[in-house]
Amino acid sequence: MRMPPLIPCLPMPIAMCAMGTLILCGACRPASGPVPLDRPLRLGGRSVSPEHLRVGATAYTHYCRPCHGDNGDGAGPSARGLDPPARDLRLGVYKFAAVPAGQLPNDADFRRIIRGGLHGTAMLAWDIPDPELDNLIQYIKALAPRWQTENPGEPIVLSRDPWVGREASAIDRGKRVYHGLAQCAVACHPAYVPRSEISAFARELTGMRVEEFRADLYTSVPKPSDYGVPILPPDFIFNSLRSGEATLDIAKTIAAGVGGTAMPTWKNVLPDVDLWAMAHYVRALAALRDTPAGEELRTRLLGQPPWVPPPGEDASTDADGARSQ
Ligand code: HEC
Repeated sequence: MRMPPLIPCLPMPIAMCAMGTLILCGACRPASGPVPLDRPLRLGGRSVSPEHLRVGATAYTHYCRPCHGDNGDGAGPSARGLDPPARDLRLGVYKFAAVPAGQLPNDADFRRIIRGGLHGTAMLAWDIPDPELDNLIQYIKALAPRWQTENPGEPIVLSRDPWVGREASAIDRGKRVYHGLAQCAVACHPAYVPRSEISAFARELTGMRVEEFRADLYTSVPKPSDYGVPILPPDFIFNSLRSGEATLDIAKTIAAGVGGTAMPTWKNVLPDVDLWAMAHYVRALAALRDTPAGEELRTRLLGQPPWVPPPGEDASTDADGARSQ
């Protein structure tokens, strides 16, 4: 598989190169007032009646206001000290929608997030009946001025999992793609294999030589975000995965990216077969959380001898052969 647009960006993280479109708008904090409940509002291209907004407002006050606050600013009475903090819903920036990162979610995304909750955070799963939930979703859109001028993004559609019955191969391919091609550990997530393997994977998948590594390769690096604070990318053998730990959940998050953060949209940057492979790999890493095997892996990686690059040879001579597989 050849991916010419990626190659010239190395050794910059591909994430950054693929991210031409990601604009972190840390300064765009809207000054929204209370939601008017006496007239229809146009939200995401759909007209919402004041009756529906009023039902949504009542549900919001009942279920969501304690954390997300009266006007959606995330400073409700129960929000003090939460980590991660309750979202400022006025921003109109969302992490776990199945649309290209940074675009507005569809109602199906809100239903999944609200009904499923976000694992490892104070955002629990809410069992709210359909009609009430639909009105609540329209109301939380009304808290963010962005919804009055923009429409939701096109939902990202992934192929079916092509690795069913071949999970061990998926994990092996995912490990290579994660470290050697997508280069998730170059500047964001931790690495989970020795430096010599990363170097070999990068050589195999891109034809490029890796000369050096960041000093803290086995920990995450805080990244700027649209949420007013830097965000630490998850360490998969340590943190729970907020939008779910099934392989499908992970594949969707990789494909869509995480809105408002440095995690870009990978759909169409790498083929679906590799996105699924990485999802299987991340799933396998998550299964090591709180296990002796996870501890043993970390100890082994931290105890490696100092990195010495393999003896040089001109990468361009065999780059073509190395890239096609
Ligand atoms: C106990 C506190 C709490 C309550 C109550 C609560 N939330 Fe949240 N909510 C959070 C936290 C914390 C986050 C941020 C999680 C993160 O950043 O990963 C969040 C995030 C969100 C997000 C952003 C999701 C994304 O993908 O970025 C939405 C939307 C949301 N909440 C809606 C609601 C709605 C609707 C209700 C009421 C039904 C509600 N929340 C009730 C704590 C709460």
